[in-house]
Amino acid sequence: MQEKIEKLKQEFLEGIKKVATADELFVLEKKYLGRKSEFNEILKGLKDLSPQERRKIGPLANSTKVEIAKMIEYKRQEISAGGNLEKERIDVTLPGKRRSVGHLNPISLVRAEIEDIFTRMGFEIADGPEVETEFYNFDALNIPKDHPARDMQDTFWIDSEKGILSRTHTSNVQVRYMEKHKPPFRIIAPGRIFRNEATDANHEHTFHQFEALVVGDDVSVANFKFVLEKFFSEFFKQDIRVRLRPSYFPFVEPGFEFDISCTVCGGKGCRTCKGGGWLELGGAGMVNQNVFVAAGYPRNKYQGFAWGFGLERLAMMKYKIDDIRLFHSGDLRFIRQF
Ligand code: DAH
Repeated sequence: MQEKIEKLKQEFLEGIKKVATADELFVLEKKYLGRKSEFNEILKGLKDLSPQERRKIGPLANSTKVEIAKMIEYKRQEISAGGNLEKERIDVTLPGKRRSVGHLNPISLVRAEIEDIFTRMGFEIADGPEVETEFYNFDALNIPKDHPARDMQDTFWIDSEKGILSRTHTSNVQVRYMEKHKPPFRIIAPGRIFRNEATDANHEHTFHQFEALVVGDDVSVANFKFVLEKFFSEFFKQDIRVRLRPSYFPFVEPGFEFDISCTVCGGKGCRTCKGGGWLELGGAGMVNQNVFVAAGYPRNKYQGFAWGFGLERLAMMKYKIDDIRLFHSGDLRFIRQF
């Protein structure tokens, strides 16, 4: 009897291996556990056995039956899950797979840091379109049609007859913002700009600037210098001094370019600053009254300062990057360093 049970079990194990569908499983189940199954016959026959044999065979028959029922149930789940459960079993003790998270481009990092520092100083962050009209990019900024300053900023025209272009600087935000807001205010406007330039290690056709515009009743050059020194000192985490040199931009009067004390040698003179102790950074000035008038403000009522300069330049200084083209190269070896 015992042999018979074991043989049945063996047959069952062979049989279940071949089962692939629910129908086949049904047939198998009937064959081994059904009312007319051989197994049932054995169970029915238990009562005819001697008490001694019954004590031995009974538990064996029962446990085998339970085992078979379990295996059938398992197979049923496997079939309805549409696959091989064994293969899909998850071993929760295995070490996990490391998910690779992306890296922020250094431009995004620098931009986030700039926005953080300036919002702490009470500045608002303003935005403007990358596709711009000639009016906001040039005319409203006191740059007339025949002005050589337009050539300084080689423009990618989108529709030159209609005066639609890719903005050549973030200064387009100035009049757009002032049309909708009354002084006093302080804003920065970081963003992407475009120039029809031959590219090299220091020039790109697509890059980023950030503009600042602070306007009120008595905003002065001293305020400008203070704000910039504060910003650069925070950004480079060292004491930075700012130096102004006279320069010309049509939208400011007076206009200047500004330098910062060298971030490598602190101003003593080194290879980075070519011995001079200063690094050129950007353009700035006191807002020209014509720009206020273009924005609809009365002439000579307000005064303020503005600046604009490149984010790439800041990122290159901070992270010691020697070629501006790397930012848009898509080279993962570059981006993975940040
Ligand atoms: N828009 C200028 C450029 O792209 C930079 C600039 C100079 C912006 C002076 C300013 C400014 O706001 O006052 O070269």
